[in-house]
Amino acid sequence: MGRRIRIFDTTLRDGEQTPGVNLNISDKLRIAHVLAGLGVDVIEAGFPASSQDDFVAVRRVSEQIRGPVICALARAEERDIRRAAEALEKAEKSRIHIFIASSDIHLQYKLKMTREQVRARTAASVRLARSLCADVQFSAEDASRSDPAFLCELFETAIENGASTVNIADTVGYAVPDEFAALIRRVMGGTRNLGDTVVSVHCHNDLGMATANSLAALMAGAGQVECTLNGLGERAGNAAAEEIVMALQTRHDLFGLEHGVDTRMFSRASKTVASVTGVYVPQNKPVVGKNAFVHDAGIHQHGVLANPLTYEIMTPQSVGLTGTGLALGKLSGHHAFEEKLSELGLVVDPAVSLAAFNAFKDLACRKKDVSDDDVRALVEEAVYDSHIVDGYELDTFQIQSGNRMQAMALVSLSRKGEKFTETGAGEGPIDASFNAINRIVGQDFKLLFYNIKAVTGGTDALGEVRVRITDAAGHEFPGKGVSTDIIKSSIRAYINAINRSMIQGDTGA
Ligand code: KIV
Ligand code: ZN
Repeated sequence: MGRRIRIFDTTLRDGEQTPGVNLNISDKLRIAHVLAGLGVDVIEAGFPASSQDDFVAVRRVSEQIRGPVICALARAEERDIRRAAEALEKAEKSRIHIFIASSDIHLQYKLKMTREQVRARTAASVRLARSLCADVQFSAEDASRSDPAFLCELFETAIENGASTVNIADTVGYAVPDEFAALIRRVMGGTRNLGDTVVSVHCHNDLGMATANSLAALMAGAGQVECTLNGLGERAGNAAAEEIVMALQTRHDLFGLEHGVDTRMFSRASKTVASVTGVYVPQNKPVVGKNAFVHDAGIHQHGVLANPLTYEIMTPQSVGLTGTGLALGKLSGHHAFEEKLSELGLVVDPAVSLAAFNAFKDLACRKKDVSDDDVRALVEEAVYDSHIVDGYELDTFQIQSGNRMQAMALVSLSRKGEKFTETGAGEGPIDASFNAINRIVGQDFKLLFYNIKAVTGGTDALGEVRVRITDAAGHEFPGKGVSTDIIKSSIRAYINAINRSMIQGDTGA
């Protein structure tokens, strides 16, 4: 057996910093359960001092998740550290993760601090965190552009004051593999009190080298790697968990390193994260993209049929692509539907299952083949709707639209047994419908983002619409709707976002 690497997942923290992603508490809990099922070692659940919602999300994850260490991020500031400790109170295993920048660029322009001041702040922060939590990680932000000698001094200070993990962050994705590996070796050789402190790495993907840099660092001796599912994260994202782990597994001959992840969960985990965050996975994305195991060229198909080893370096089964089992049709009952959910690894409440089943029956009457992706989309929509109590529901809509007229919509919604009807005019049928809905709810919500995706191919495909709207105070709310009629899915998504705006004040704290 080789060295055991720790997988530190930061989908819920750095991944949430993906532009346009805004996860609420239940979104975070769903992803946290997926991460625990995957078997990651550490879940960075959030940054409690950044908002009340994030505080509650970390608290809920700490209460509910057993197995992985639950980690909370904090700047090197007393308030952040105390907030992190409080949010982690109920965790089975907890970690406070403190960070401060170490590069001269950051010290001069951002922190306006001297190296000595950064060192003193590191000492005080780690000491405080250690008094509140037995497991403290210290990160040097922008470490890859820092003076290695100062980096070693900073790590010595952090370790002296109780840090058990020190993290080397390639914050801006500037490093290249050989150079990054050399930095890891330099830090491991030059940090005098390193002892059994775990050296971690955290790579961003600005130059497309996050996975390569992470792997080079592991080869050079790093013991923990930070990553996100689907490579989510700031700008070009973080190192992708599925790429790193599958590389370790597929090239075990080369790396000789062990991990505790159940790789068969990757496909499901990736789909859940894409669906919850609204950031779709490119078809050609390694490991989890739709084309990752598809062989198009005749020569390739012939080779794979003769022996998959010809063109497949890993099996689809190893990442959980098992192919379709049970086929569903319009005669399928709730029991068969639930079997399908468990085959797809979709664990949902009975109420969500029933709502999705009703939507499925409706769809199956209109669409010949209901695919696994259709089922997944219906379930995700039901999950989205399930947090809403007493919200608006779509009753009916009628549209008039054409190339020589202004689009008009007549929309009826119901809420708490009451029916509301309004008309709206607009640039097209969707604009007109949203204007009618704004009149019904008596608020001028603005559409910030609109995206439509066909769940499968064919003219009878489900169209999945995602929107993000903002209220007059500038608060943003995501919404999602699914239907074979794209105007209906748009209206449902818009209503879903409005319903979410009505419960957003309830942080559940
Ligand atoms: O990219 C970065 O530097 C970070 C730190 C908080 C580790 O995300
Ligand atoms: Zn980062």
